Amino acid sequence: TTGGTDDQKRRAAERAADLVETGATVGLGTGSTAAFAIRALGRAVEDGLDIRGVPTSFASRELAREEGIPLVAVDEVETIDVAIDGADQLDGDLNLIKGGGAAHAREKIVDAMADRFVVVADPSKVTETLERAVPLEVLPDARTAAAARVSELDGEATLRRAERKDGPVVTDNGNLVLDCEFGQISDPESLAADLSATPGVVEHGLFVGLADEAYIGTDDGVDVQS
Ligand code: A5P
Repeated sequence: TTGGTDDQKRRAAERAADLVETGATVGLGTGSTAAFAIRALGRAVEDGLDIRGVPTSFASRELAREEGIPLVAVDEVETIDVAIDGADQLDGDLNLIKGGGAAHAREKIVDAMADRFVVVADPSKVTETLERAVPLEVLPDARTAAAARVSELDGEATLRRAERKDGPVVTDNGNLVLDCEFGQISDPESLAADLSATPGVVEHGLFVGLADEAYIGTDDGVDVQS
């Protein structure tokens, strides 16, 4: 969650939810912006829209269930028609940093499977050059070696700690998260390749070339980028 308002997030998310047609298999993203889309889809299901949702996290599954959206696990589907997901930051080429909620591994599986992946965000997320810390989900055994590799790549890795627990954040998959500062990321594609090649890295939060469109909610409408 960053500086956007709930109204901005809701506008983007509701516009994206309007894209969903009956019969669709829909990727349900994680975070406060995607949650507005899940709620909108829940209302549409109540009004007769027939969809099945593919949750990207424990949190999105729980919310979707509350909203009465029929669910299916990602490993039970071969295609996803549309995925609606938030981002922590996005650039003009629709490259993203995700993983602020530590859900980026399953998010990437779902978002990459979708015929149409729509990012929903507010203007505070939009930047010319990606520069937020890149979350890495790592196998617990790999945290020291992966942090050393990040240093070699001129980054600085910090183990993400839990707020209401003494100890680290543990992902939905039982792994740890390293938040990696690289400063301005001038070549996200090459950094993504380096991070993917690091042993023990389950997934990194750079989403390069995956998003088809971004819906940016503003105070009076929605800017569409594609
Ligand atoms: C979850 O791990 C992230 O990738 C989210 O998609 C991201 O943090 C967006 O969340 P907000 O919409 O709450 O900013």
